[in-house]
Amino acid sequence: MADFLTIAELPRQEILRLLEATRKNVPVAEGRSPNRTALNGRVIANLFFEDSTRTRCSFETAVHRLGGQVFNLTPSGSSISKGESLVDTARNIECMGVAAIVVRCAVSGGAKMVADGVKCPVINAGDGRHEHPTQAILDVSTLMEEFGSVEGRTIAIVGDITNSRVARSATHALATLGAHVRLVGPPTLVSKAFERISQGSGTVTTMSNLDRALEGVDAVMMLRVQFERAAGGAISSDYRQMFGLTPDRVARLAPHVIILHPGPMNRGIEIDDGVADDPQRSRILRQVTHGVAARMAVLEDLVGV
Ligand code: CP
Repeated sequence: MADFLTIAELPRQEILRLLEATRKNVPVAEGRSPNRTALNGRVIANLFFEDSTRTRCSFETAVHRLGGQVFNLTPSGSSISKGESLVDTARNIECMGVAAIVVRCAVSGGAKMVADGVKCPVINAGDGRHEHPTQAILDVSTLMEEFGSVEGRTIAIVGDITNSRVARSATHALATLGAHVRLVGPPTLVSKAFERISQGSGTVTTMSNLDRALEGVDAVMMLRVQFERAAGGAISSDYRQMFGLTPDRVARLAPHVIILHPGPMNRGIEIDDGVADDPQRSRILRQVTHGVAARMAVLEDLVGV
């Protein structure tokens, strides 16, 4: 790979290869195995034009675990606040000799714009409503740790699907690997166009009745209502009742069903406290550990020595 911008265009074998590398990195991400040297002093630039906790910190941690160095650039305290563009910023940073640029931005397609403007590898850390490909790797990796394979498994992704880069990338990855994806939410937030992602034995179905959608699932991924992307205006006051994962709903799930959420969570809106913190079912913090392992895998693949 020259860049890592999208899951949608990644062949099944490439996804599986990254997942296998991620699996092997988990003990390093947990601090149980020694750090590695694949980046051997190389410098990675984290360009985060949009706020982040998990993605930014896990890319930083991944670089450290691979023996590299990393710096962060955010709008506050940089010339981005003076109006310098995404691409101009990236071009200047590239001239400092960085090995790769990790970019998060609010513009759908922004990571590709940066990749077209520089020669070094670019990693998409979430671009607008478009994609969040490393999140998809960590989501599937978390599911595979549980189930071995996602092929034939049924995963419900619930909430603000249309505005969600997490849902788009996860749906592509899961369908490519033969899972059955149910995309669930208010019709205003679930575009039927997602059903076209179905491929091979992997299916994608849109639904608007959460209780029906939860029948027979193996995992449930709850999504944050993205108030900053105007989704707040599209949800009604009964959102929690219609689409929230409440203890009552969880009590009706089969014992093996696990719960994911990419974070940050709106507790009491899409997910209740007792569900988010359920010690038996919640894998929400496990996803974060897999996030470090997944980002290590991508960095090693693109710029490892
Ligand atoms: N899941 C995720 O992208 O979280 P952050 O916005 O905190 O990086």
